[in-house]
Amino acid sequence: MTTLLATPAGWPRVLTAGFGAADPADLDAAIAAGAFEGLKRAIRTHGPTGTIALLRASGLRGRGGGGYPTADKWHACATADGTVRHVVANGYEADPATHIAKALMEERPYAIVEGVAIAAFAVGATESIIAVRAEYGEAVRRLQEAVARAEAAGHIGANVLGSGHDIFIEVRPLRGAYMIGEETVLLKALEGKRGQPEQRPPYPTERGLWDRPTVVNDVVTLGAVGWIVANGAEAYASIGEAATPGTVLVQVAGAVEEPGIAEVPIGTRLRDIVDLAGKMASGHRLKAVAVGGVTGGILPPRELDTPYSAAALREVGAHAGSGSILVADERTCVVDLATLLTRYCADEACGKAIPCRIGLRRLAEIGERAVSGHARPADPTLLADLSTDIVASALCGHERAAVTPLTSVLRYFRPELDEHLLRSACPAGVCHPIGVTSAGSAT
Ligand SMILES: Cc1cc2nc3c(=O)[nH]c(=O)nc-3n(C[C@H](O)[C@H](O)[C@H](O)COP(=O)(O)O)c2cc1C
Ligand code: SF4
Repeated sequence: MTTLLATPAGWPRVLTAGFGAADPADLDAAIAAGAFEGLKRAIRTHGPTGTIALLRASGLRGRGGGGYPTADKWHACATADGTVRHVVANGYEADPATHIAKALMEERPYAIVEGVAIAAFAVGATESIIAVRAEYGEAVRRLQEAVARAEAAGHIGANVLGSGHDIFIEVRPLRGAYMIGEETVLLKALEGKRGQPEQRPPYPTERGLWDRPTVVNDVVTLGAVGWIVANGAEAYASIGEAATPGTVLVQVAGAVEEPGIAEVPIGTRLRDIVDLAGKMASGHRLKAVAVGGVTGGILPPRELDTPYSAAALREVGAHAGSGSILVADERTCVVDLATLLTRYCADEACGKAIPCRIGLRRLAEIGERAVSGHARPADPTLLADLSTDIVASALCGHERAAVTPLTSVLRYFRPELDEHLLRSACPAGVCHPIGVTSAGSAT
């Protein structure tokens, strides 16, 4: 079971209410806790257009990384040319060290089923898919059980609540590489094809699964939808920041005593999020937080007052990414960490775009030269120039995000980077075989 971190009394629980239930796939217990109330209201009170308007008023934005307004995506799909539409819930969770979607799918399967059903009703989709990373066996089983029980009880299936709408949902396990998390690759995988990201437009809302209008939403985005429709747009809009309301799931791990997942209002300071995971490992001091998973920005302690929101994180050169926050103490070499992340991103790039395929490899090589004591005189300049060029030519978003670990080290940990690049030394004493020096704190 996932460790759910305790949050201060009074913090809203949109996504995590009900975590820790004895049997999360128990339909009666879920109904008693309010499951399918939102779907009922969508069908009986709001209708498809009213449901999209309600979502717009709530301010809900996608939690899969892009932060696109959910209502705009649904409206685009609902009004696109075509007779057959689909909703695809993205439960692939590409980042291998993040387990936020996994936790939600395991603990709140009905919240996801309901979110998909409301989206399907709003856009007029009859057949929808919850795509789940195959390694998440428990999540797959619970979602399959939830779908079967909800259909048997008439909450989804044919002619839901006498509305004339058929809402069928399939749970599809998918096995593959990191890039399957990207929506156009995910859709190809669901069609049984190998895929590379497609240039957009056309967006999946116009031409998605089997070339039909398709909504692709993160399971975390969809997990909030039932609550929003049941409790009203205002209730949701009053949580978090006015520009980006609501709550988000974060995972705090690394050099903390109690790693786990927490639900936090958007705009919560990084410092307060890190504090939820308890003290630093005994006798050690916080050196950096890597915010955003494998493509995350590595920030020094002085940026801990940054609010956890897309705009504020962008300002400091990070992004929410997968929702992971990795806490590092002085035993971590940030150059080594950034290099490992960059190598992972380079290896996972699909290869379609040359600046990404070649550029990320060259970037990883600069890091690898630095951590092995073989830096070249031109490497500091090359690192800065190459990162800028890679971002300028981004095709699918991966390359834009993948430069973040090393560029954040360039921005915040220049003395430690220079020790590696110019003096073949590692202040943290991590990089082998190069020596230890006294420099290394953030600039
Ligand atoms: C390399 C890459 C990996 C991605 N991985 C995920 C993922 O694991 N889960 C996810 O929901 N979105 C992921 N996305 C974003 C999706 O392409 C898409 O924008 C998202 O699923 C849309 O849902 P939302 O509007 O609810 O955020 C990824 C994007 C890229 C470029
Ligand atoms: S940017 Fe990279 S990962 Fe994205 S399509 Fe191009 S090569 Fe593939």
